[in-house]
Amino acid sequence: MDRVKTGIHGLDELLGGGLPKGRVTLIIGTPGSGKTVLCAQFLLKGARDYGENGIYVSLDESRDQFMEEMASFRWDFEKLEKTRCFSFIDASPIRKIQGPVTVGKLTLGKRDFSLLSLIEGIRSNVKAVGAERVALDPLASLIFQYPDPAERRTAILDLIEALIHTGATCLITSELKMTGPRRILQEEEYLAHGVILMTTLKVGKSTVRIMEIEKMRGISIDDQPRPYKITPNGIEVFPYESVF
Ligand SMILES: Nc1ncnc2c1ncn2[C@@H]1O[C@H](COP(=O)(O)OP(=O)(O)OP(=O)(O)O)[C@@H](O)[C@H]1O
Ligand SMILES: [Mg+2]
Repeated sequence: MDRVKTGIHGLDELLGGGLPKGRVTLIIGTPGSGKTVLCAQFLLKGARDYGENGIYVSLDESRDQFMEEMASFRWDFEKLEKTRCFSFIDASPIRKIQGPVTVGKLTLGKRDFSLLSLIEGIRSNVKAVGAERVALDPLASLIFQYPDPAERRTAILDLIEALIHTGATCLITSELKMTGPRRILQEEEYLAHGVILMTTLKVGKSTVRIMEIEKMRGISIDDQPRPYKITPNGIEVFPYESVF
């Protein structure tokens, strides 16, 4: 399987070379664990170091909020945007659609319209910048609209299928609802090709950030939890350090 280097220090070692090319990997983590930073770093490295253009699809934050957070790492996404190596899609308005929407002769429910317009937006932007990397952050804003598990599953699968069709290597993020050995796995963990877990662990009096590759279909990975840090340079994983 072809690999795509994330360029994130230590993560490519954990993945045995990089993410599987053209696949959809779920980044699932606790609040503030660095899901957005990881997505941004993956896109930044792609555009700046590997000549692979990227798209960030925001379901939550505005462009200004994103740019401001990235500036704290001195990551100049505005420059990448100007050189058409990067595109920011603000998909947050889809949360605000009220009631059914009529498109030509067709009337679509709020949820179907949200999903279809999101997929269409991603497709056209991938073409426009020739994107090889896509990050969609966070999935929760979309799937909250599907309280029924069967409908939610279909919506996630439709989204994953649409992302695969773009041909890009994709990240989607999700909020980890439970931690610990007895946690109940979330639907999206079964549906994505790969899952990277980001959480914290209490070790004595201190808290350690840990990253674990939960699964990665088709490739052999390091399945042990490994410590990581978020520094002013971004995320750094320590693939040879043990947390226990
Ligand atoms: N410039 C920086 N230098 C070092 N660490 C930073 C910097 N900026 C942010 N952080 C760390 O990154 C964390 C936020 O990361 P991020 O926003 O990616 O988390 P997240 O998992 O996306 O959170 P949420 O669930 O709220 O979306 C902060 O809590 C902070 O610890
Ligand atoms: Mg985030």
